[in-house]
Amino acid sequence: MTEEIAEDKRNARSTLPSKDFSLYTLKHIAADEKERYTTGLGEFDRVLGGGLVPGSVVLIGGDPGIGKSTLVLQAAAGIKGKVMYISGEESLRQIKLRADRISVRAENIVLASETELNNILHAVHQEEPVVLIVDSIQTTYDSRLENSPGTVTQIRECTAGILEDAKKKGYAVLLIGHVTKEGYIAGPKLLEHVVDAVIQFEPETGGNYRVLRAIKNRFGSTNELGIFEMSETGLREVLNPSEVFLSERSGEVSGSVVTAAVEGTRPILIEVQALVTPSNFGNPQRISTGFDQRRLSILLAVLERRAGVRVSSHNVFLKIAGGVTIEEPAVDLAVCAAVWSSVTDQPVNKSILLLGEVGLGGEVRGINHADKRISEAEKLGFTKIFLPAKNHSSASSKTAKLISVESLAQALNNIS
Ligand code: TYD
Ligand code: MG
Repeated sequence: MTEEIAEDKRNARSTLPSKDFSLYTLKHIAADEKERYTTGLGEFDRVLGGGLVPGSVVLIGGDPGIGKSTLVLQAAAGIKGKVMYISGEESLRQIKLRADRISVRAENIVLASETELNNILHAVHQEEPVVLIVDSIQTTYDSRLENSPGTVTQIRECTAGILEDAKKKGYAVLLIGHVTKEGYIAGPKLLEHVVDAVIQFEPETGGNYRVLRAIKNRFGSTNELGIFEMSETGLREVLNPSEVFLSERSGEVSGSVVTAAVEGTRPILIEVQALVTPSNFGNPQRISTGFDQRRLSILLAVLERRAGVRVSSHNVFLKIAGGVTIEEPAVDLAVCAAVWSSVTDQPVNKSILLLGEVGLGGEVRGINHADKRISEAEKLGFTKIFLPAKNHSSASSKTAKLISVESLAQALNNIS
């Protein structure tokens, strides 16, 4: 516990307004949704909900070294208009070296190495950029406060100061915040409710992939994922994640099944892998990566009771290939099929894709976005798609045969 003395800059509360205050009806407020600054990084723009909204503050959180500075520098280069990049973490020379390495030569970026809030705001007023980047909020401090940089009070006050100024002047702000083990509280969590959007930059296990995920967004969906690949020359957008996630799929091996998950608005094809081995001692193991362990246990019980697949005395290992984590129920059927395929040692044909949620009664339940998933599967050459009977009636496909399934047992009978 550390004690922090907050200075109260406000006077005692009074009911007299300190400035002019008016009320409006919605009809009389002008708002032009088209006005957004796009960064040219499609993946980033989509996660933002279509670009940066003027006057908004977006917090980008992530572990140190994950690539936040690289990301914002690449984004800055694509913005049409002046961008001011304030770094409290690196010298101008270091930024220049990075810019050279990732071939950013944009003329629209003005840089400064500065950490004091009032100096930063003063510079903003002189330069009038459309976007301000502050790297990072932890190194920024307000000299009117006595606390040291990085403390809760400083972070909160600096963010509030930037936010107020941005709203008044109408420029957009990208704030970078570290998430560190010790300083977690003094990071993005603390600011989540203050800023307009919180975007998390995370690694995906396996490969050099990085995922951008919106945790909060006042101007867009929080389900969108932006996928990047790290390279020597900076971040590269992964425009077709399905191809990447399926690229290492080997020939016909038992226990491998493909399904289509929808993250946000985009369908992604993923491979579910299962390995089932006899267990010699007491409690068999159930281990899953990228899929909820409890959900796996439930599905195993359903497989055993409703489809007669014996797994109670077997170890079950389940993995979503490529390291993504899938939370939606539409992948249930594929998980069951992968386990079944491994138990029986029967490979599932490479042209087959399975969709559907599995209920406790062994029934296959309807899913959302069936059409999106089907068209993504068509694109990658799948010719046999198993989908819930509920979705079958309204779905259509030019190149794939759609097979309606009502129960888990029926689906398993038909894939072999
Ligand atoms: P950096 O952007 O400095 O991370 P952060 O600002 O989150 O601390 O990147 C960390 C390191 O990774 C840096 O040494 C450069 C390297 N890197 C690459 O080589 N290629 C890439 O595409 C990215 C994003 C980073
Ligand atoms: Mg950095």
